[in-house]
Amino acid sequence: MPLMEPYRIKVVEPIPVTTRAQRAQALTRAGYNLFGLRADEVTIDLLTDSGTGALSAAQQAAAATGDESYAGATSFHRFREVVEDLTSYEHIYPVHQGRAAERVLFSTLLKPGQITLSNTHFDTTRANSELIGCEARDLPCPEAADLDSREPFKGNIDLAALEATLTGPDAGRVGLVIMTITNNGGGGQPVSMANLEAASRLCRQHGVPFFLDAGRFAENAWLVTRRDPDYADADPRDVARAAFRLADGCLASLKKDGIANIGGLLAMRDGDLARRCEVILTATEGFRTYGGLAGRDLAMLAQGLLEVTDPHYLRSREASAAHLADLVNAAGVDTVQPPGLHAVYLNAGRLLPHIPPERFPGHALACALYLEGGIRTVELGTLMLGKEGAQGEPVTAAPFELVRLALPRRVYTQSHLEYVAEVVGVVAKQATLVPGYRIVESPPILRHFNARLAPVTA
Ligand code: F0G
Repeated sequence: MPLMEPYRIKVVEPIPVTTRAQRAQALTRAGYNLFGLRADEVTIDLLTDSGTGALSAAQQAAAATGDESYAGATSFHRFREVVEDLTSYEHIYPVHQGRAAERVLFSTLLKPGQITLSNTHFDTTRANSELIGCEARDLPCPEAADLDSREPFKGNIDLAALEATLTGPDAGRVGLVIMTITNNGGGGQPVSMANLEAASRLCRQHGVPFFLDAGRFAENAWLVTRRDPDYADADPRDVARAAFRLADGCLASLKKDGIANIGGLLAMRDGDLARRCEVILTATEGFRTYGGLAGRDLAMLAQGLLEVTDPHYLRSREASAAHLADLVNAAGVDTVQPPGLHAVYLNAGRLLPHIPPERFPGHALACALYLEGGIRTVELGTLMLGKEGAQGEPVTAAPFELVRLALPRRVYTQSHLEYVAEVVGVVAKQATLVPGYRIVESPPILRHFNARLAPVTA
């Protein structure tokens, strides 16, 4: 059977179609920052795969049965049942989204001066570690540095570096090891089961808590079945179960593989740690049986967490990301290889060699894709990750200049993605004409959300 979306469409939402003149005007008004656009100015929105998925009929039915009791809601118990079966953790707390789980866990577990280690911290994970006064240290595997290599598990942590840190002079300061599956900051690459097992063993040997940042747990499990022959016949849900079993607990944004618009999870084995987390949870998120979510949200999450490991769904998601990457590559634009599931990452630095890092080639490509076809993406390059001096002068560039085309779950069809590839192809043909950008106005932190920019024409 040819690969196709394993669902049919029951409710539709019209897509905004705009003229080039309207897009140019919108972009100028937004200070050339795609976060400043109104959604009705965007034709295909690939800004994020977070909270943007389409609900199933079964999830909508579950929402109707949502129990809004303040304490002990049946929707919580349903959610708990599904999560416990999946993760094997005893202490399970809903939170409003992933970063809330980070804040509750880190402020309970960590002390200033400690170190958190990760294959790659996601930005909010890093920010929550640093807000406590900790140092967030990334230890990606060496293969991750080669964007073109087709190594199967470029999301792995560097085990030699992990062991060296756990036995070296900083050993006493390591407060937590957190594995991000899949590795979003590292190009959406998966982590192998062998790497998780080895990292888990090292943490146990050295008495350091080992948690998963499991927002894309099902996508990681699927890629394990596809890329590790030992798991070729395994059910992705069983692979995910095995991954959770290796850790002391997890935090997760359920806006990804919970296929819901809002929600997060904090779960763990240690009862003492859980009781201490509960204090912060109750004070800042909500009572332990709702954690800032409505009963209807919990009901939809419980159902979404079941649907997300369906092999037909995961296979089609893999196929659509691969199809988009193939088309884009054929149009002459390189992407981080091999493509994962939640996004395709364009190598903007290579496409636009005439734009130096301090003129933001990734941002320039993102603006060009919007102007050409109304496509909204996000830059992962020097605008987001570079550092600058007190006068705003560039000090360090990001290691790569990438543009992420994130794929919302069950939202866009193959023909939408073919349209996206066509637009990328048109921009690629005129790559030398794409201008760089300078910052006109910038907030002190997280500048990529709010900075205003202007094109710099040679
Ligand atoms: N961890 C990872 C790996 C993430 O990708 C995200 C969010 C978070 C934690 C935070 O979760 O948004 O629910 O608070 N990633 C989104 C993205 C925003 O676009 O990649 P949250």
